[in-house]
Amino acid sequence: MASGARSKYPVPLAPACGDRPAGPTSENLGLPVHQDVETILFDEAQIRLGIDRVASEVTAAYRGRPFTVVSVLKGSCVFASDLIRRIPIPLELAFVSASSYGDGTQSGQLHLNFFPAESEIAGRNLLLVDDILDTGRTLSRLVGEMKRRGAAEVRTCVFLDKPSRRAVPFQAEFRAFEVADLFVVGYGLDFAGHYRNLPYVGALKRECYEKRA
Ligand code: IMP
Ligand code: MG
Repeated sequence: MASGARSKYPVPLAPACGDRPAGPTSENLGLPVHQDVETILFDEAQIRLGIDRVASEVTAAYRGRPFTVVSVLKGSCVFASDLIRRIPIPLELAFVSASSYGDGTQSGQLHLNFFPAESEIAGRNLLLVDDILDTGRTLSRLVGEMKRRGAAEVRTCVFLDKPSRRAVPFQAEFRAFEVADLFVVGYGLDFAGHYRNLPYVGALKRECYEKRA
């Protein structure tokens, strides 16, 4: 973790994750998650500024037009809830659930778990909001599915964009930050279901994912 930023967060008290069992066991349930982070990439203040900028862009793009923010669960729940509170024009909110990562850091089989009701998609202007645009498979599939289900228009907004990892051609209309090819966690992003509750975005220590990836 970057030494300057560290003091804001709980000081590590326990062995790093490579030296203890992964996942929530009785041995590590009480340990701070911050100790597993190598570097903080975007702290809370930077995140706030990035979201303010994207929220202004979205507001300008949809002023005078009805639209629905569709949060892609689970990863975008933190970003979407901060984003919508900075958009001061009428909007509706819906959720879709997709999962492409198992317990590893490599993109796996994509599962679309649930969709909004047909009435929330057909004829609507949708803004799909996701945590990170990586290979592009999740969002390109979701855009296609929403159009197939009758959406009038589908645009996308991502918290993070990792363009170096793209496997299918895809660009988001709105994005808060670009990131290098690192596995990142926090602010909704997880590894094996954990770290979503970190208030910043950080690179996970190698020993935390190499054992299980
Ligand atoms: P894509 O389909 O490869 O673009 O991946 C999108 C999904 O992969 C995101 O919604 C995340 O859930 C997950 N993902 C990709 N990169 C990372 C990362 O660095 N950390 C955590 N999750 C990631
Ligand atoms: Mg996700």
